[in-house]
Amino acid sequence: MTEVAFQRCISASCGQTFAINEALVACSDCGSLLDVQYDWDSAKSPRSLREFETSNFESQNRLAQSGVWRFHRLLPFASPEQLVTIGEGKTLLQHAEQVAQYVGLGSGQLHLQYEGMNPSGSFKDNGMAAAFTHAGMVGATTAACASTGNTSASLAAFAAVTRALKAVIFIGSGKISYGKLSQALDYGALTVQIAGDFDDAMDRVREVASQLGIYLVNSINPFRLEGQKTIMYRVLEGLGWEVPDWIVVPGGNLGNSSSFGKAFSELYQLGLIDRVPRLAVINAAGANTLFELYENRKLRWNDGNPDTQIADDYYRELDEAQSCAETIASAIEINRPVNLYKCLRALQVCNGVVREVTDQEILDAKSQVGAGGLGCEPASAASVAGAKQLRSEGVIADSDRVVCILTGHLLKDPDATVAYHTTDQDMFNQILGSRGVQRASFANRAIAVPNDLDEIIKAIQLYS
Ligand code: F0G
Repeated sequence: MTEVAFQRCISASCGQTFAINEALVACSDCGSLLDVQYDWDSAKSPRSLREFETSNFESQNRLAQSGVWRFHRLLPFASPEQLVTIGEGKTLLQHAEQVAQYVGLGSGQLHLQYEGMNPSGSFKDNGMAAAFTHAGMVGATTAACASTGNTSASLAAFAAVTRALKAVIFIGSGKISYGKLSQALDYGALTVQIAGDFDDAMDRVREVASQLGIYLVNSINPFRLEGQKTIMYRVLEGLGWEVPDWIVVPGGNLGNSSSFGKAFSELYQLGLIDRVPRLAVINAAGANTLFELYENRKLRWNDGNPDTQIADDYYRELDEAQSCAETIASAIEINRPVNLYKCLRALQVCNGVVREVTDQEILDAKSQVGAGGLGCEPASAASVAGAKQLRSEGVIADSDRVVCILTGHLLKDPDATVAYHTTDQDMFNQILGSRGVQRASFANRAIAVPNDLDEIIKAIQLYS
């Protein structure tokens, strides 16, 4: 199976290829990002997406139950006995009428892809299943990542369940929500808290991984992105294999958006879809590198020849201003996205747009998602806030079919949720007011009543 797959440098002027069983996070010739590529003629790709419906569901096979490996034929870099699963990707495409109204879309036009249903509570498990599979292929014994919390929770969970690798995680100090930190600690990962933010932790983990020969599972690892392609296959499946008009996704390190672009470009190339959807990547306003570079400074993929000077200049300006990312959506509090260029490629493939949304918009959108049940963490709600903005600009039409990706579970960051709904003004100010959030537009406040039966009944009758 492995000979059908190889790794290739994404730079148009380089394009160097590498064997699948090498553990690399950059091209050794020019330093650009790497893709996993397939010789689709030998890979026996499916003739129709419907083949995934019949062959998999009735099987007792553990791999067939995985929302990633059900689609193995679209990421055929390993043989079946090498595949690792902990039950990832059994996620749901929700029809969300109330959120559709909030966004300004017609009935039945908005869908939420709920990735919080993964074993570790975020979309990261899709990519981790693929990264652990590749780590096994190259004989790795320790895996590491820098994280705003979800990658580390996913790595720690896979390491603890499979016992295949030791997990080392790097986090910025005070930058990770307790829901996520509690996972890494409970699952037993070696947790290194460094004085700095995510971008600092990312720099350090790359140095450490390279010095100690540790397998890196951040989304700079091209195999992570292979697993995350399956989120799009499940979206298509949920829509009866019809392509939506828009995919809207939060942007942090830009792994998801990159993998979605790759998924659609491959499906199109294989003749499995007849058009690609448009892609909207949504930054938090306090961590808006992609928005700044793409929408303001007009940095483009340019068929593999991006003007890298534009990004280099911007990063120098950030350094000079000692500017750090700052948003309540801590998962996407990132200023130097490692997948910038792959994301630019996805934006070209999918005729994409980028928007930024404020913390106020994120939290209001989050409360609307929560009111529909299941809920999400702040970063995920950036997709809904972004869809609302694009709808009000008229970029998304009211008849468009839109899918927003809900990347992480509501319980990942309970502080933000409780602070939004609280009656305690000090708590609100401390957690949200300090970030420029002025009001909780859709707060569902707890009512305080004395411990007295009549008073309790009176209160319920008054408020219900
Ligand atoms: N949403 C959530 C809940 C995330 O945890 C992340 C990234 C993103 C969105 C952004 O996704 O990087 O693919 O653009 N979290 C990483 C982490 C950085 O360390 O857990 P992206």
